[in-house]
Amino acid sequence: MEVFGLDVGGSGIKGAPVDTETGALTGERTRIKTPQPATPEAIVRTAGRVVRESGWDGPVGCGFPAVIKDGIVHTAANIDDSAIGFDLGGALERELGATVGVVNDADAAGLAEMRWGAGRDADGVVLMLTLGTGIGTSLFVGGRLIPNTELGHIEIQGQDAEHRAADGARKQENLNWEQYAERLDEYLHKIEDLLWPDLIVVGGGISKKAEKFFPHLTARTEIVTAKMRNEAGIAGAALAGIPDKEAVKVAE
Ligand code: BGC
Repeated sequence: MEVFGLDVGGSGIKGAPVDTETGALTGERTRIKTPQPATPEAIVRTAGRVVRESGWDGPVGCGFPAVIKDGIVHTAANIDDSAIGFDLGGALERELGATVGVVNDADAAGLAEMRWGAGRDADGVVLMLTLGTGIGTSLFVGGRLIPNTELGHIEIQGQDAEHRAADGARKQENLNWEQYAERLDEYLHKIEDLLWPDLIVVGGGISKKAEKFFPHLTARTEIVTAKMRNEAGIAGAALAGIPDKEAVKVAE
């Protein structure tokens, strides 16, 4: 079926219709700048504009950078604090007059990679990392998502890991590739000691430059780059918008 996938990020709100069988975008991508201040109400209005500008009328799935349970936002690491407790699913449904499923943004990307991308044939324990402003994580066991893992916030040297190893940290501290790889490697070692994954998929914009930092990594787990790149967030969000909610539970 076709579902409109929405990806809410710190700088833009993007969306496109998606074929949920193939993961392909079936229409143009529409992007509007994230409103500032990025209050949840303003985000809902802008998301509504993205959907309307695309001329879409039907079910919608939305990836959002926070813990999401039953459509409610529970955390606000990189977003406006006023989002905590907000019924994002309900507000989007009222704005759009359609059924809406909401999911954590990293879980959306992970679902897409497991179904159509780098994790397609992977069994066992797979961890996908989305390296951006923060570190988003999504964890799969035998293809099944364990939703809302927040492993970007484990503590390393007394700091929130994403403040040290996200792409945002690289930019903010002007780290060169080798320095950045060292930070990421430290994070990967910690994660693999805790989880012992069989495969780690690295996504986010920085994964396009994997050749700059992958050669410096010493972690023992097999590490690959995401295949769907930019589109994973939108395509995976669409899976969360399939009115039959079972669809987001199993990636196969
Ligand atoms: C948030 C996660 C989110 C990740 C990527 C983290 O700071 O806590 O919920 O998935 O950033 O956007």
